[in-house]
This record gives sequence, C-alpha cells and structure tokens, in this order.
Amino acid sequence: MPAPSETASAIEIVARFGGIYEHSSWVAKQTASQLAGLDDIETIANIMADCVDNASNERQLALIRAHPDLACKAQVAGVLTENSSDEQSSAGLDHCSADEYEKFQILNNKYHEKFGFPFVMAVRHSSRAEILAAFENRLGNDHEIEFETALSEIHNIARLRLRAMGD
Ligand code: GUN
Repeated sequence: MPAPSETASAIEIVARFGGIYEHSSWVAKQTASQLAGLDDIETIANIMADCVDNASNERQLALIRAHPDLACKAQVAGVLTENSSDEQSSAGLDHCSADEYEKFQILNNKYHEKFGFPFVMAVRHSSRAEILAAFENRLGNDHEIEFETALSEIHNIARLRLRAMGD
C-alpha cells in the first residue's frame, strides 16, 4: 500500500521521471508535488535541478557517485542503465580502440584517486577525442571546482534526458 502522501499522480511522476537523475529517484519523489500537471520540459528541469542544488553535500556526492565510469567494464558487460548506455553509445564510447579504452581506464583511475568520485560529463554531443581532452583538462581542477562541474554536467545530462522524452 502506498503511503498516504503518495498519491496516484506522485507515483506516476516518479515512474516517469525517476531515471532523469541516475539511480536517484529521490529527486523525482521530492519534487512530485511541484511537477504535478506540468509539461514544460525546461520548467520541470529547473525544479528538479533546484532540488539537487538544495540537497545536502552528502546527497550530492552520492548522486555523483551513482554515475558509472565512462567506457568502463559495466558498459562492456551491458549492465548500465538504458539512459547511460544510450549516452555512452551516442558518443561512440562502445567503439573505443584498445588504445582509447586503455586511456579511459587510466584516466578513470587517476580521477577517482584525486577526487573520490567518477568523471561525469554530458557526452551525448561529443566525440571520443573531445571527451578524452576534457577529461585530461578537468583532472587539473581542484576538488571544489570539480564537484561543482560534476553537478553542472549532471544537470545537463538530466535536461538532455528530459528533452529526449519529449521527442
Ligand atoms: N555522461 C552521460 N552519461 C554518463 C554516465 O552514465 N556516466 C558518466 N560518468 N558520465 C555520463
């Protein structure tokens, strides 16, 4: 039985928007009452982004950590979410050469070691070479900048996922 506060429409909203933030349906749950009846994608994106921006640091960190590494073993094994798999494939990350794949693994490890979370980038409109260049570049950032950049990229990913739902 749903809790009294979980109306039919809240349940539908979570079913519809629960995957907009990777493995983080709490964003859709917390914003369900604000999203009810809305169909403008940009308004929905802003409400969900505000929820994340106002969340605790721990929750934000967990959200960043909910993202799989780019060009990782999970992708090869086919165990990513449908959204993540589509995004990575659209950037050609499922077709890395052996050399590129190795570069991604080295960068993923270095990045985790330095920041303690995965490198997140909205990759849908980027090439493998552009992603690798951004990766190298962002490794030079300090922790605070990179934390903010990861959240900003996550909002970009969310916006692209919402727009794709409207197509
Ligand atoms: N950019 C778009 N999708 C993803 C993802 O699943 N993981 C990471 N790290 N970045 C992404």
